[in-house]
Amino acid sequence: MLKEKLADIEKKALSSFEKAQSTQDLYNMKVAFLGKQGELSLLLREMGKLSKEERPAFGKLANEVKRRLESHYLKRESELKEKELEERLAQEALDLTLPGPPRYLGAKHPVAMVIDEMVDIFARVGYSVRTGPLIEKDKYNFEALNIPEDHPARDLQDTFYIDEEHVLRTHTSPIQIHTMETEKPPLRILAPGSVFRCDSDISHSPNFHQMEGLLIDKKVSMADLKGTIAFFVKEFFGEGLKTRFRPSFFPFTEPSAEVDCSCPICMGQGCRMCKNSGWVEIGGSGLVNPKVLSFCGLSPEEWQGFAFGFGIERMAIIKYGIEDIRLFSENDTRFLRQFAR
Ligand code: PHE
Repeated sequence: MLKEKLADIEKKALSSFEKAQSTQDLYNMKVAFLGKQGELSLLLREMGKLSKEERPAFGKLANEVKRRLESHYLKRESELKEKELEERLAQEALDLTLPGPPRYLGAKHPVAMVIDEMVDIFARVGYSVRTGPLIEKDKYNFEALNIPEDHPARDLQDTFYIDEEHVLRTHTSPIQIHTMETEKPPLRILAPGSVFRCDSDISHSPNFHQMEGLLIDKKVSMADLKGTIAFFVKEFFGEGLKTRFRPSFFPFTEPSAEVDCSCPICMGQGCRMCKNSGWVEIGGSGLVNPKVLSFCGLSPEEWQGFAFGFGIERMAIIKYGIEDIRLFSENDTRFLRQFAR
């Protein structure tokens, strides 16, 4: 009986639609039952077996079955689509808690770090910062500092001359002169800056930095100078480090001393940095030469002072154990990154 076969096809189709686990499965089932070669089409071809009177009723019945199956198909399809979307979302979910690729932040250059730290330490005992020009008159770089015409420092070998009268400053000491000329003592100033000398090897760079210090007051002695430097060394390199003065000569100080501190790398035990001596040199110092005071219009009867000049790269080299002064100006981020805090 065709009617029973029709009911049977509907039942089978409904249950296979229900069983389909993916939209692809479901589609295959639709083709199998409702497609051109599907079971329903094949059944309809058997309609010829029916009498003329029976045919319209059966055709109507078959169309109803087709509509019901089609609407069931659509319903089931949307269920499966939903399910498949959920599965995909679960599978492709991003773990937002995973760390991203590292990003390097900028960091202060070690020369700037030393300058800032020195300025902080000296600010606590009343010093404030001054600066001066990189191109100086011979007068400020040499003459006012009592450096005579025939002094070796003036030699073309050491000094970059701009013209007859101007040089790239070879030290920060000219800032002493500018300050004493324009300000009234008492003075406590710190002057960081770039300096230039015609010199280049593993421990000399044609451009490096110095920190000048100058104190002018009524009564100033070597004891004040040594006390100030000992205080600074302890604050900068750490407790327990000693300071040592060695007699020296600078035309603009009298007496003059070279300043050493116990090597902060080996704590004075002797190592490569201090060439086994236990001591490292950090700069020059002394009491301001009365001739320099007079040149600036200060009476040596009334005023006295001390001055010091430290090499900033030198301080960083000692503090961080850096081997080659040229690293400071190469701007290799692998070197600079190590100083990021
Ligand atoms: N200007 C000297 C130098 O460059 C250092 C110094 C500064 C020495 C102040 C004494 C006092 O070598």
